[in-house]
Amino acid sequence: MSDEPLMPSEVRRKVLSQHREIEQMLSELETGVTHLGDGTVGADQVKRAAYALRGILELHMNFEEAHMVPAINEADGFGPERVRHLHAEHADQRQELDRLVDQIREASSSDDLKASVVKLAQMLRKDIEEEEREYVNEKLLHDHIMPNDTFGG
Ligand SMILES: [Fe+2]
Ligand SMILES: [Fe+2]
Repeated sequence: MSDEPLMPSEVRRKVLSQHREIEQMLSELETGVTHLGDGTVGADQVKRAAYALRGILELHMNFEEAHMVPAINEADGFGPERVRHLHAEHADQRQELDRLVDQIREASSSDDLKASVVKLAQMLRKDIEEEEREYVNEKLLHDHIMPNDTFGG
């Protein structure tokens, strides 16, 4: 992964597309647990998908910290406060993610496994929704174009 600075609009586009991919994985995981009883999907497959998802989320949060944080920091006067808030939220999310993935690993029945997957999906969907409302929007992440005299009045 390159550490070249990205334009704020590019950061926004990439983060949004990663969010859609994560939601897609969550839907697949949720569909997977509904088939636990019918023999088409095994508990091991669901568990492996959950570990893979945790790895992808770690990469995603690292991407946000490397690229979205600098863009937010410079967006307006509230930048540093928003950045502190984002880091605090990521710390909570990492802790909660570890807790839920541990629960998934240790689940000994289909019902336990299903319940943990549902909790994980709910948490991540809510986090994504809040993050997009608070940070990943055009108001905060837009490119700064030099004003043109014609429109400058
Ligand atoms: Fe995030
Ligand atoms: Fe995110």
